Amino acid sequence: MNIKQLLSEKVLAAMVAAGLPEDTNPAVSISNRANFGDYQANGVMGAAKKLKTNPRELAAKVLEHLDLTDIASKVELAGPGFINIHLSEIWLAKQLSSVAKDNKLGVNQRAIAQNVVVDYSAPNLAKEMHVGHLRSTIIGDAVVRALEFRGDKVIRQNHMGDWGTQFGMLLAHLSDKLQANEVAETALADLENFYREAKVRFDDEEGFADRARDYVVKLQGGDAECLKLWQQFIDISITHSEDIYQKLNVTLTRDDIMGESAYNADLSKVIDELMAQGLAVEDQGAKVVFIEEMANKDGEPSVFIVQKSGGGYLYATTDLSACRYRSGELNADRIIIFTDARQALHFKQVEIVARKAGFLPEQVGYDHCPFGMMMGDDGKPFKTRTGGTVKLAELLDEAVVRAKALIKEKNPDYDDEQLDEIAHKVGIGAVKFADLSKNRTSDYVFNWKTMLSFEGATAPYLQYAYSRIQSIFAKAGVDPQQLTSGFAINEPQEKALALKLLQLEDVLDAVINECTPNLLCNYLYELASLYMSFYEACPILKDGIDDSVKQARLALCAQIAKTLKQGLDILGIDVMERM
Ligand code: ARG
Repeated sequence: MNIKQLLSEKVLAAMVAAGLPEDTNPAVSISNRANFGDYQANGVMGAAKKLKTNPRELAAKVLEHLDLTDIASKVELAGPGFINIHLSEIWLAKQLSSVAKDNKLGVNQRAIAQNVVVDYSAPNLAKEMHVGHLRSTIIGDAVVRALEFRGDKVIRQNHMGDWGTQFGMLLAHLSDKLQANEVAETALADLENFYREAKVRFDDEEGFADRARDYVVKLQGGDAECLKLWQQFIDISITHSEDIYQKLNVTLTRDDIMGESAYNADLSKVIDELMAQGLAVEDQGAKVVFIEEMANKDGEPSVFIVQKSGGGYLYATTDLSACRYRSGELNADRIIIFTDARQALHFKQVEIVARKAGFLPEQVGYDHCPFGMMMGDDGKPFKTRTGGTVKLAELLDEAVVRAKALIKEKNPDYDDEQLDEIAHKVGIGAVKFADLSKNRTSDYVFNWKTMLSFEGATAPYLQYAYSRIQSIFAKAGVDPQQLTSGFAINEPQEKALALKLLQLEDVLDAVINECTPNLLCNYLYELASLYMSFYEACPILKDGIDDSVKQARLALCAQIAKTLKQGLDILGIDVMERM
């Protein structure tokens, strides 16, 4: 169900009948003021300008041809040539009852599913996951779920940093620990600490740096012993990430890992091909691509190094190989990559070179979706009190502890088990929603108090709205699954809710096209707020309420609850019957 699309088709047909070209944009949008109708079509303005005719006269002509029988209760010409559309309450109720019977909430499944490769999370296994990886992980997962809900086929690609020179130092250190009879799991229980120890030895200990470099050479040369040690290291590190994915309710699994190491054998071929095509050239011993398209203001091309002078490959080489693999082997129609904004230049370079080299055909979409940083209350990048990086695991634990205290205060009668379950959903939900609801590309301030508030656009507010609706069903003694008919719209609050409920597909499409889960967050917040106003204005279970009115309002509640639950599920946030 996409009202905007339906109205666009109808208005366009009328425009064509009125003599306008087929490619005219009807410019249908949701009205921002109720007295301008529910939807507006403003396309006549632009069309009239092109034809140099009077827009109001043209609009009147379009109106003559506009057939919205049954759909609209009133269509009017306004201002210099706007068309205001008031939707019929009867038609809206009818749409709701068909949407209520559909387990996809009326969201049409895509006629032709796209193959979408989504590259997200991608922590570096040398270290523990920190807050910087939170954004990539949860924004990526929300977009993945939205794509799947819409019927696209998603191939998750967790491009983990599991390769590179830093592993030399880590393996040398691990090998010493194992020699001293330490168990790998214990030695690597705190990766941050382990990394620090190895780094100190690398910087200060006589001979250690050489051994580390030796390990790098052996690792790249495929030495079996060394690979075994490396495998052990990354296995344990992956387990740390898996714990976080589970806590965060993120859909990534081990099968989705396609780390940097997976491209290792292909890198020399990538270079050979770039050289053979004349795209890459030798420059001071290194191999580089000069990108004229990205020249600076002095006309100097941007320099993209694909192989270092010592022969080593780079992050860039791996990403070129990944382009080829994803479009060639995985048959991607579209590739989406989520990293922080500092990598924007890198991905722009990768795309240009990959397209020229034929690794990324024209028709394959390549969207690097950058995001801003998480800031502390002081407006500086989010850090621990002592200035260290905040471990994601600790941050999430703290969220649950804080949520537990909050829930306990509100519900002193809950036992510990109930509290733990709710606290987990509320705490993790709060962290995720606070992040997901922000404009993706801006930096945002991390603040415990606002994210855990029961007011405003927060997870607790939405979860609370959901559980309040559940308590109505409990009081009424009805099963919400059965409430799929009897819709009727009489009050303005009911109409506003009906419209909102029927706009889900439109919102999801925007989320998918622009990779902006914040639009879904806004939508759910608006839906919950409309519900709160409806609840104030329209009694449901009060004595003396007409039975058909009660049924209609209960059905509306059921559809709101379903939509909140499904919407939050796309964000990877759980709801609960009671909170
Ligand atoms: N591991 C990288 C980081 O932590 C992110 C990788 C993103 N994906 C890619 N194809 N380069 O910054």
